[in-house]
Amino acid sequence: MNSMLWLIAILFVSMNALIAQPKGYNYDEGKVPKYTLPDPLLMTDGDRVKTVKEWETQRRPEILELFKKEMYGRAPGKPANLKFSVFDEQQVLKGKAVRKQVEIQFAGKADGPRMTVLIYLPPKAKGPVPTFLTLNFRGNHTVADDPNIRLPHSWVRGRTKGETVDNRATEKGRGVAKSRWGVMNILKRGYGLATIYYGDIDPDFDDGWKNGVHALYPKPKPDEWGSIATWAWGLSRALDYFETDKDIDHKRVAVMGHSRLGKTSLWAGAADQRFALVISNNSGCGGAALSRRAFGETVKRINTSFPHWFNDNFLKYNDNENACPVDQHMLVALAAPRPVYIASAVGDKWADPNGEFLSGIHANPVYQLYGLSGLPASKQPPVDSPVMGRIGYHVRSGKHDVTDFDWEQYLKFADKHLKPRKK
Ligand code: GCU
Repeated sequence: MNSMLWLIAILFVSMNALIAQPKGYNYDEGKVPKYTLPDPLLMTDGDRVKTVKEWETQRRPEILELFKKEMYGRAPGKPANLKFSVFDEQQVLKGKAVRKQVEIQFAGKADGPRMTVLIYLPPKAKGPVPTFLTLNFRGNHTVADDPNIRLPHSWVRGRTKGETVDNRATEKGRGVAKSRWGVMNILKRGYGLATIYYGDIDPDFDDGWKNGVHALYPKPKPDEWGSIATWAWGLSRALDYFETDKDIDHKRVAVMGHSRLGKTSLWAGAADQRFALVISNNSGCGGAALSRRAFGETVKRINTSFPHWFNDNFLKYNDNENACPVDQHMLVALAAPRPVYIASAVGDKWADPNGEFLSGIHANPVYQLYGLSGLPASKQPPVDSPVMGRIGYHVRSGKHDVTDFDWEQYLKFADKHLKPRKK
């Protein structure tokens, strides 16, 4: 390589490092402040939870309520006029997949708020298949090279003009995010894949709660849904549809998400216990990472950069994490006894890989109440060495992303816990 190319390569790498690790935040384990985590098994009245029944009828509802009130916000239930319309169903990808596309109309109106679910299923399945449900960042059409995937009708993130530009998705975007999906591999392993463009549910910018499904509801109060809770609400509406689709096993749906959408999958699994398995990929602050560690992204920073993600009550915890009655290990614990997988990346310090691991560890007492081992590790495992109990964890080499390695672990984990039914 000549020197000019080297210079460009060095600049590119350091730019990426800057983006992945903004300045002015702590990345030093030795400088993590002293903290005490709230005990998931200690009731607010001071009693200790001793049985599964006490957990399920008292402490779990208490924690769920705290997360709703203080952080993600309450969401409405299933709308009365929810309407499903399957507008595409055929064999594609040379007969190796069945593709379905379903429009879900939140108010039962074709010109009202709505989302499109793209579904790929293995073609020769004998009976309903377990399915991964995930939100995507840039439109369903970016997930695979498939000319007939419907383009999003809603706002998509502007690549060059800033995040709040109302861009339209174009043909050029087809397949651009396919490296994150490995559709054929998922189908070969006997699973379906369903995905929704998150902007269909709620465009990802602070728009005064006018766009997406918010158009149907009053402006949220300080304890009501922020965007993360709204995207999670959309995932539940997809599950409502799966309950009507005989090709999908709605009792074996794994909800998976990356980054802000990993925060969303954790909250979706907590708020809706119909999800059978939960996967958080590099979810970081407000996801799997413990807020009290203030390592990498902090509560104050996330509330400042993304004021619409959480409810307004969460602002109280800016620079004040210890005052919060919950921390993120309790979010993981809300999934119990269902399986949860937490994935980190070494190059993703902003998301605090160790803090993500520790959330799993501190959720263990709740899994143990069920006689399950939870996350079977005493310290963060070495890079690229997954650990899988009822809670799974890995820190892989590389940066903030979703890779084939990540999917390989999710498929193994699903084989272990959601195994396609024996015929
Ligand atoms: C930002 C944000 C993170 C988030 C990420 C993403 O980096 O600070 O909290 O996870 O965006 O969603 O891509």
